[in-house]
Amino acid sequence: MQTGLRSKLLDAFSKAEGEYLSGQKISEYLGCSRTAVWKHIEELRKEGYELDAVRRIGYRITKKPDKISSNEIQLGLTTSFMGRHIHFEEEVTSTQKIAHNLASEGAEEGTIVVSEQQSSGRGRLSRVWYSPKHTGIWMSLILRPQIPLSQTPQLTLLAAVAIVQAIEEVTTLKPDIKWPNDILVNGKKLVGILTELQAEADRVHSVIIGMGINVNHDQDHFPTDLQDIATSIAIEAGEKADRAELIQQILLKFEVLYNLYLSKGFKPIKLLWESYAISLNKTVVARTLHGSLTGKAIGINEDGVLLLETESGNIEKIYSADIEV
Ligand code: BTN
Repeated sequence: MQTGLRSKLLDAFSKAEGEYLSGQKISEYLGCSRTAVWKHIEELRKEGYELDAVRRIGYRITKKPDKISSNEIQLGLTTSFMGRHIHFEEEVTSTQKIAHNLASEGAEEGTIVVSEQQSSGRGRLSRVWYSPKHTGIWMSLILRPQIPLSQTPQLTLLAAVAIVQAIEEVTTLKPDIKWPNDILVNGKKLVGILTELQAEADRVHSVIIGMGINVNHDQDHFPTDLQDIATSIAIEAGEKADRAELIQQILLKFEVLYNLYLSKGFKPIKLLWESYAISLNKTVVARTLHGSLTGKAIGINEDGVLLLETESGNIEKIYSADIEV
């Protein structure tokens, strides 16, 4: 089926909200014959959709496939621009890499790159991000904010809030945020966020926000070195989550927060971020590339930078580090 027609058909089912759509209505909507409609329905079945077909009444989708693709993300997406352009590939080296290329070629704000598997997923501080098949969300989002370079860390914090809100919406979990962008449940890492930039002098061309979310992994899915420090939604909530629905919620929460950020600035985002933060007002160790620093995490400044009060009373600004609480 041509992708345009398939999107239109899925869009029609999404708008019907589980009600039956008659073959006649679908054929008028798609501008094709009833036989062609039947063929499109058969193709959806082959892709793993389950559909109810009732004579003289029509069709409705009863189950979506347990995989992600542009279709599943699009079906039920209610944003106006986040995720309206989807670049999906079954397997990639890194969604960040593709997003960088697309951004250089002029991809629109809100474009997302999603894959079922990454062979060289990138983490912060040059680490590798474990990204096995069909279990997680490996996604990069392209933004084009007109903000100074110094304010771009704010977007990482915004992303963390959006993801926490989406997880709270779709699951029973109540995740915490550890500065700058680790999302934890019961002290173990559930989500990692990697923000990268394309900029020249002080002009930001694009911000690429990579999100790695462990969704349906079993504990023994993780390699030994991650066993004690990583977790997934399925492990913590005791049941699997619908990854496409989670992506839709992340995009929706992100869009709302991003619009708020562009109109009202960082203040409301900072307040939300602080309400989820576990590292604040605690003594922490910040491990940077240049060594470790111990102090009390007294807050974040207006740029989203962590402020650490050392024993000598100095306030140190931490731009990039691993934090041990
Ligand atoms: C971290 O180290 O905590 C950040 C991990 C970010 C991983 C995501 S998965 C999607 C995107 N593509 C990548 O290669 N990395 C990010």
